[in-house]
Amino acid sequence: MFTVKVPATSANLGPGFDTLGLALQLYLELKVTIIPQSTRIRFFVDGEEYPEEIFGDNLVYQAMKKVFAEAAVVEAPGLELTINSSIPPGKGLGSSAAAIVAGLYAANEILEKRFTQEDLISWAVEMEGHADNVVPAVAGGLTTAMLYRGNVYYQQFTFPPELKLVVAVPDIQISTDESRQLLPKKIDFMDMVNNLQRASYLLASLIKHDFRYLPAAMDDVIFQPRRKQLIPGFDRVFSQALGNGAVGVALSGSGSSIIAFCQQEEKRVAEAMQDAFAASGIQSQLMILAADP
Ligand code: HSE
Repeated sequence: MFTVKVPATSANLGPGFDTLGLALQLYLELKVTIIPQSTRIRFFVDGEEYPEEIFGDNLVYQAMKKVFAEAAVVEAPGLELTINSSIPPGKGLGSSAAAIVAGLYAANEILEKRFTQEDLISWAVEMEGHADNVVPAVAGGLTTAMLYRGNVYYQQFTFPPELKLVVAVPDIQISTDESRQLLPKKIDFMDMVNNLQRASYLLASLIKHDFRYLPAAMDDVIFQPRRKQLIPGFDRVFSQALGNGAVGVALSGSGSSIIAFCQQEEKRVAEAMQDAFAASGIQSQLMILAADP
């Protein structure tokens, strides 16, 4: 038996769309038991067993099948797969990336690491459609990803450990596909320049532990302004987070969660964010987390 543990992730961090990502100390765990002399696969999620017609669509299982297919394995061994996840789905916290990465790594472990990490990351990006959740889910920490001529390249950094992450998770489910449909096919030239300047400045500021201008550096002008229509209270949550001491705030991935970086006052920021959602009639859950190293 072995366990694969994959972190939740927050992608974009404002202007770094499909590029920047951060791993959080919130996890999906996949326990795998190989059952000898069997070809039966049993699947348990949060303690409950699921029949094959339901788990067939599960991303963990799809990812495992992808690896077995790449390895030309005709019949997978008998398996008992148990998933326990603390990552809420549909909230912009990388639950699908975590499931895909867990499935790919588990299947590769069963095949005695036949494939390289590069292979696994490239399949994960292919399945997910973008790299900014998958890459930090594999590498941990803060990452910047680049797709170039069919390859995935990334750099990984340690996220400043003095920053706490306040994540407000509203009671709003958003599919990434739906949220991506709100994005423009063409963008204004100066909007592109502004976002590029800010994303670069943000990354450099986090590497140098210089948090003075993070609110400016995280002020995305392209994506969040279009996506916020799906999230009542969005502007109020942002201004309350910054007004109560957060050093930066962003929509987490495609939403609906909002993530704030705090050097201090994280409890105050968390309460202010929750109150701001409540003022728009939205219930939210709060998490105060550290980055996954
Ligand atoms: N970069 C992706 C998006 C992340 O914003 O659509 C989705 O979690």
